[in-house]
Amino acid sequence: MRYFIDSANLNDIKNIFNHLPVNGVTTNPTLLSKSNTTLIQLKELNELLNLQIHIQLQSTNAEAMYDEAQKILAINKNFVIKIPMTDQGLIVHKRLKQQNVTTNFTLCFSLHQAWLAAHSGADYMSFFIGRTEDHGYNVSEILFDIQSAYEQYQYKTKIIVASIRTIEHINASIRFGADIATIPPVLFSKLCKHVLTQNGLIQ
Ligand code: E4P
Repeated sequence: MRYFIDSANLNDIKNIFNHLPVNGVTTNPTLLSKSNTTLIQLKELNELLNLQIHIQLQSTNAEAMYDEAQKILAINKNFVIKIPMTDQGLIVHKRLKQQNVTTNFTLCFSLHQAWLAAHSGADYMSFFIGRTEDHGYNVSEILFDIQSAYEQYQYKTKIIVASIRTIEHINASIRFGADIATIPPVLFSKLCKHVLTQNGLIQ
C-alpha cells in the first residue's frame, strides 16, 4: 500500500516526507483554502520531492470544469486532476482522457460509482471511507466488492482510500489491500505509537 498525505500544508507534508517513503499528496478545495497554499507552491513541491499531487476541480458544469482543468494543467502538466463523480464529471473526464491527462474520480461512495470510474478509464478512484461510514454503511463490504469487481474485470484503476479519520480506517485499508491510503497529518504521529512500546522504553 502506498502512503499519500491528505493535506495541502507544506510544513506537514515536508515533515512526514522526512520520516517515511511517501508517494503523493491529495488536496481538495477545503484543504487548499485552510492552508493558503498555492498551486505554484504545489508545483515546486512536486518538483522538489517528486510527489504526485492531486488537485480537485471546484466547478460543477462540464464546460467550466474543463476550463478549470486546463488552467491547473497549465501551471503543472504533472498534476493529477481530481474529478467529482457526477454526470458532468464524466463528460469532462472523457475529454481529459482524450488529452492523456492523469485522473482521479473522487467522492465515490459505492460499488457502482467505483465501477463507473474504472469503466471510464480513470487512473485512480477515491473511496471515501469516513464519510461513507458516517452514513451507516458497511465500508469493509463495499471495499471488498469494489476490489472483487476490479479483479474480475481486470481494471487497472488504482483504489485510493480517502476520508481516513481513524487508525482503524488505516488498518482497514491495509487489511483490504488498498493501492493507496491518503492519510491526514494528524494521524501520522499516532501511527508508530503503542502503549506497550512506550512502556518498553522505560522497562
Ligand atoms: C481526499 O482526496 C479527500 O478529498 C479527503 O480525504 C476527504 O476527507 P474528509 O472526508 O475528511 O473531508
